Amino acid sequence: MKLTRIVEVTWDKHSLFVRGERIMVFSGEFHPFRLPVPDLWLDIFEKIKSMGFTGVSFYVDWGLVEGNPGHVSTDGIWNLEEFFDAAVQAGLYLIARPGPYINAETSAGGIPGWVLRQNATIRSDNPEYLNTTTNYMSIMGRIIEKAQITHGGPVILVQPENEYSTWPGVTDFPTSMNRKYMDFVEKQLLAAGITVPLIVNDNLALGYWAPGSGLGAVDIYGIDSYPLRYDCAHPTVWPTYRFPYDWQVVHERESPGTPFAIGEFQGGSGEGWGGVIEEKCGELVNEEAARVVYKNNYSFGVKLFNIYMTYGGTNWGNLGYQGGYTSYDYGAAITEERGIWREKFSEQKLEANFLKVSPAYLTATSGLGINGSYGAPASIAVTPLVGNGTRTNFYVVRHADFSSTDNTQYNLTVSTSIGKVSIPQLGASLILNGRDSKFHVTDYDLDGINLIYSTAEILSWARGPGSTRVLVLYGGAGELHEFAISRHLGDPAMIEGNNVTIQQKGPAWVVQWQVQPNRSVIRVSDLEIYLLWRNEAYTYWPMELPASHPIGNFSSPTKELVLVKGAYLIRNVKLVGKQLWLSGDINATTEIEVISTPVDQLEGLVFNGQQLKTSHTATGKLSAKIDYMLPTFEVPNLSNLRWKYMDSLPEIKSSYNDSAWKTCDKAISHNPRDLDTPMSLYSMDYGFHTGSLLYRGHFFANARESYIWLNISGGTGFGHSVWLDDKFLGSWPGTGAKATITQNLTIPEALSSGTPHIFTILIDHMGQDEEAPGTDAIKFPKGILGYQLSNHDQSDISWRLTGNLGGEEYQDLSRGPLNEGAMYAERQGYHYPNPPSSDWTVSSPIKNGISQAGVGFYTASFQLDFPSGWDIPLNIVFTTFTSGTSQHDELGLNYRCQIYINGYQYGKYINNLGPQKSYPIPEGVINHNGVNYIALTLWAQDAEGARIGGLDLVASTAIRSGYSKPRPAPQPSWVARSDAY
Ligand code: GAL
Repeated sequence: MKLTRIVEVTWDKHSLFVRGERIMVFSGEFHPFRLPVPDLWLDIFEKIKSMGFTGVSFYVDWGLVEGNPGHVSTDGIWNLEEFFDAAVQAGLYLIARPGPYINAETSAGGIPGWVLRQNATIRSDNPEYLNTTTNYMSIMGRIIEKAQITHGGPVILVQPENEYSTWPGVTDFPTSMNRKYMDFVEKQLLAAGITVPLIVNDNLALGYWAPGSGLGAVDIYGIDSYPLRYDCAHPTVWPTYRFPYDWQVVHERESPGTPFAIGEFQGGSGEGWGGVIEEKCGELVNEEAARVVYKNNYSFGVKLFNIYMTYGGTNWGNLGYQGGYTSYDYGAAITEERGIWREKFSEQKLEANFLKVSPAYLTATSGLGINGSYGAPASIAVTPLVGNGTRTNFYVVRHADFSSTDNTQYNLTVSTSIGKVSIPQLGASLILNGRDSKFHVTDYDLDGINLIYSTAEILSWARGPGSTRVLVLYGGAGELHEFAISRHLGDPAMIEGNNVTIQQKGPAWVVQWQVQPNRSVIRVSDLEIYLLWRNEAYTYWPMELPASHPIGNFSSPTKELVLVKGAYLIRNVKLVGKQLWLSGDINATTEIEVISTPVDQLEGLVFNGQQLKTSHTATGKLSAKIDYMLPTFEVPNLSNLRWKYMDSLPEIKSSYNDSAWKTCDKAISHNPRDLDTPMSLYSMDYGFHTGSLLYRGHFFANARESYIWLNISGGTGFGHSVWLDDKFLGSWPGTGAKATITQNLTIPEALSSGTPHIFTILIDHMGQDEEAPGTDAIKFPKGILGYQLSNHDQSDISWRLTGNLGGEEYQDLSRGPLNEGAMYAERQGYHYPNPPSSDWTVSSPIKNGISQAGVGFYTASFQLDFPSGWDIPLNIVFTTFTSGTSQHDELGLNYRCQIYINGYQYGKYINNLGPQKSYPIPEGVINHNGVNYIALTLWAQDAEGARIGGLDLVASTAIRSGYSKPRPAPQPSWVARSDAY
């Protein structure tokens, strides 16, 4: 049991308190290691903050920072202090999740390769395993400790381990062994000085590690859930079997003393090799899903809600596990290119902002959702959240069948301060469209003004100068809505729009309207009410004004808000005298209008440092037009670059000397998979864990060789190619499903007895699999699992192996341990900027390519000079040639490319598998003002060779942006690697 208690972060059964104030932790998952440009972290944070979120949850990938045992990287792109500073600047609290195991679709779930080759079971209490974690956990623990809220930092919670909820064959999980392990991880954090509460994420929702469960590991119990699952190929098909309907009961049973917390909830989904592009995952978990399943979570009274992922990013440099390709866009609210155009971003903005201004939600008690309750038909479930000590009640309506596409009419009969009412009172019915869900409120407090009820949802409300309030309501297209306020407030007046019915009913004014594209605005004394179409509400930004230390930009219930309409993004606002300073982005000429500020008579607007020409709207609001004039900038045509070429498979030449390679001489492996070979040929046993693997098998012929049988492992989507001396024997081009393959390759010509020969085998390493606790499946080896040369003993072949130069003692401390593979050009570091290519052949991967199976390496450079103040995302886009095209005869279909930009491997492309063709490259990895080096490996797997169908650098919509231009990530240039072979 964790004993330390701090005053900065406490909790009761309803919610967390931060600095004594109740707060909804509305959090988005974002992994800094998936965006290796520290200066862009603020951009993501600002976008998450502008959605109305109050926090971010992040993992640290142990495998990336301690690739070399004993050496933990904490600078450059691994510098978390910059991440913490950016979080403070944006005003987001952090949930730190350092592992040691993280899952997260990372190679080995974040366990470093060198740990996998140990005997001990991963995530067990075996001291051999535990000892591997201590260096990392103490260094990372101390880094996180310094960033805790107790020192003014952003970290309010820390999660030991990840979804540690099962162990195979164990019916009484957790066993004392499992307990000892969790206890050990927790103590590591406490020893590093962590004093903020510890939180657990139990994906089985069985109460594991909950306080009071008797297991006693953590302070806050949370669950994880991915109810829309992962079938992005059928994005409109919602699985029905997983939707929760009674989590308030589960929570009350498992952890009644802590707030209901969902440590991870599905924010998108992921895909793998040969699957569909990530955009489809965005369609699966779209704005409708966000409405239905997130509101379902609010109906259970969730008070800590983390959406995984909110910004996914990129599996650059081989950091991903075998089941995913380069993009980790995840179909998340913020795209891999840092775009916010997915409708889900806007939908989540509406939801998070509503909860932020609804303090009554923080203590409300959730009742069961019952089909046909509160006057609704049986096809609708209504879940009440009843105020505790407040008058406010919330009612969440959804279809009883979550995935229903029916449009259903209903009425709502509820008790309010004016008695029991059946809504709508002015006739007609409410409508719940298919795949929609809504919050209705009763007796909702607008700081002293009572909103008796509203069927339209609340985006936000704010206090203006004096006693004024502005309330923003919205509804879906064409819907009918109604709200009521007390007659005592005064007479309502329409100050904008029409088609609104206002009638007196008993002690109330009842207002009914049909949602239209154009807004209506009603004024009742000091209260102004905006009636919006939901899509218009998307363009409204409720922004927090900075407060004094220590709150600063963090959220607090006492904060003053500014409501702004317009702009693609508002990042932050501040008041300078009677001027409102805004920082934000536009993607078109935009009108902005300030709906509410605490200032009486606002006098001016400044946008991104520029004073705007303002005018007053008919309703007296300050507004201004911001021009968007697309600047001119040039993007080079990659086909026209002066590409330099070198052969990157010298290993098949008889002259090649492999004496510096690792000799495969380990007769014993700790791997749980038994050896099928005299010596282990598992690459991990020799310290190679990433990218690609090259084997050379030496033997003397006996003239009776007719075939070689191979059993090869590379992970799903992998391919391999095999040569005998310089003769190509064949390839395995890969499928999305197979992680290993057996193959018989014919030896085409008889070999002369007694002559020496060499097999060369190139294998793609797709990343280690993730862990199922206790199975050690995570250790499944890559490389050669078995071989048989006909009419030979296995021991006739002696093998040598290389992977990335140095293996665990990897070369590139800036870009990390997984960025490079085994290919010759990679071992030499030619993928770095400024390689020694002056006397290489001029040859293009697009126009020329290579004419036989093998590996060609290409490099070129180009200059960019983009205008400042513009955020212009760039993508490298491949064009696929598929069979049936006229080029098929001269081009190989089966080829693989790795794209390097300034030394960062930012794309693995498999022509015959896909699905990914477009690779976003973040600014800072690619230099928007300066020289860039592009390099690529072209691995032709067919005898006729390959050239690339097409390769383009494509700019997305240019955004006029208030982002801070990032300094480049470290981009060390080529220097001769003295030990390279
Ligand atoms: C969770 C896990 C995360 C991530 C997610 C799926 O179960 O905790 O790390 O892997 O699944 O994207």
